[in-house]
Amino acid sequence: MNESPAESSSRRDFLATAAAAALAGSALSACAAEGSKAVATHAGAPAHGGGLFRAPAIPKVRIGYVGAGLQGSGHIANLLKIPGCEIVAVCDIVPAKVERVQKEVEAAGFKQPKGFSKGPTDYERLCQEDLDLVYTATPWEFHVPVMLAAMKNGKHAATEVPMGYHTEDIWSLVETSEKLQKHCVMMENCCYGRTEMTILHMVRKGVFGELLHCEGGYLHDLRAIKFENANEGLWRRAHARQRNCNLYPTHGLGPVAQCMNINRGDRFDYLVSMSSKTRGLELYAKEHFPDSDPRRSEKFKLGDVNVSLIRTVNGCTIYLGHNCDSARPYSRINTVQGTKAIATGYPDRIYIEGVSPNDEWEPIEKYTAQWDHPLWKREEEKSKGAGHGGMDFLEDLRLIENLNKGEPLDQDVYDGAAWSVMGPLSERSVAENGRPQDVPDFTRGAWKTRPPLEILGV
Ligand SMILES: NC(=O)c1ccc[n+]([C@@H]2O[C@H](COP(=O)([O-])OP(=O)(O)OC[C@H]3O[C@@H](n4cnc5c(N)ncnc54)[C@H](O)[C@@H]3O)[C@@H](O)[C@H]2O)c1
Repeated sequence: MNESPAESSSRRDFLATAAAAALAGSALSACAAEGSKAVATHAGAPAHGGGLFRAPAIPKVRIGYVGAGLQGSGHIANLLKIPGCEIVAVCDIVPAKVERVQKEVEAAGFKQPKGFSKGPTDYERLCQEDLDLVYTATPWEFHVPVMLAAMKNGKHAATEVPMGYHTEDIWSLVETSEKLQKHCVMMENCCYGRTEMTILHMVRKGVFGELLHCEGGYLHDLRAIKFENANEGLWRRAHARQRNCNLYPTHGLGPVAQCMNINRGDRFDYLVSMSSKTRGLELYAKEHFPDSDPRRSEKFKLGDVNVSLIRTVNGCTIYLGHNCDSARPYSRINTVQGTKAIATGYPDRIYIEGVSPNDEWEPIEKYTAQWDHPLWKREEEKSKGAGHGGMDFLEDLRLIENLNKGEPLDQDVYDGAAWSVMGPLSERSVAENGRPQDVPDFTRGAWKTRPPLEILGV
């Protein structure tokens, strides 16, 4: 069934309400399942001038932080150490978390930030404050409404991953960002991993030859976390009950998309996706909880293993995996195959034709001294101790640095949109027995001329 523009915009208007209802466990069903929803046309609107978007420089970025949970608290700790910004407001539905952050900010020598904890839509009041940037690390269902509220109130918006999980919501972020000339950035920390940046450096300098194929994924046994009565256990499992797809596509896809110059010379063309049967979460509940525990009777839609394949317009292929409910060690795969070399992860290995011993993998660390990315060389000391091996600090640092200077952000709204949309597109492909799904060109043609990402000259 086609969705008219009026239906589409009224659905967006009700997003905040729907998101609020999420806490009662109903928001996911309040949004139509992607598989049953047609996508409107978005032709003709100008992409940010067809190039990279720059906003006026902001010497001191005044930040309103929304969502002081596990990941948000890490970002807040990073931001307190980064010059050129100040946390002036903080919002969480849990008042104690707001109070904790207020104390942390004061202890770091800043003025106490204004607190907002009057319920699940109180971020709307925060967005009306005198701020430059609203940065959110809330559950997924709040990313779109928080960012829309931020931009509509004249602020730049940054979010944890994914940016959104309905194609129309992602379009609404792109269009709002363009119309209001505000940054709308998804913060994909894995793009700042040391290995990922070393590989990006080598790709840029031609070590891999021409790229042909990449692989990425999010393969992380989250069964215990999903069933906790705290933190992500309060919201993440609900997505597995209601969606069968690649639920968390951006950690694996972001870094390889940067190597492949997606949206900057190439773009995703189409995707096919299949999911295995669902077993892990139901088994886990039966093995870990007593008969009386309601979690034992939960039913899940999410296949334990999702396998998606993407082809780009320039003829490259990408394998994208998702596997969070099975017994397995962690991996984001991180494979980059060019005509002259291949790197792959977990453990990190590389083979370079004519350099590595014939037909043998070498540890990638052998090449770190030569190909370490200049950002890592510059910031290694400061990133020590920060979340996820330091990459979270680097992503926050680059965000603030670029806002301070009025430079384009490393990841922009088109990157976040193209990486996130693999969630809803895979959902639809799975629902249609693996039928190919065209990937929207969020840049509307600008991908042909947008320059490749450059960080500190690389
Ligand atoms: N990039 C990474 O490596 C990484 C790692 C973990 C989590 N994440 C992402 O970060 C986000 C948060 O995950 P988390 O692990 O911190 O979860 P969490 O549950 O620990 O934190 C979420 C926080 O948001 C608060 N919250 C919920 N609804 C809210 C609302 N309407 N308004 C304000 N606050 C609200 C909760 O009280 C909680 O403090 C998710 O998008 C997740 O995918 C990313």
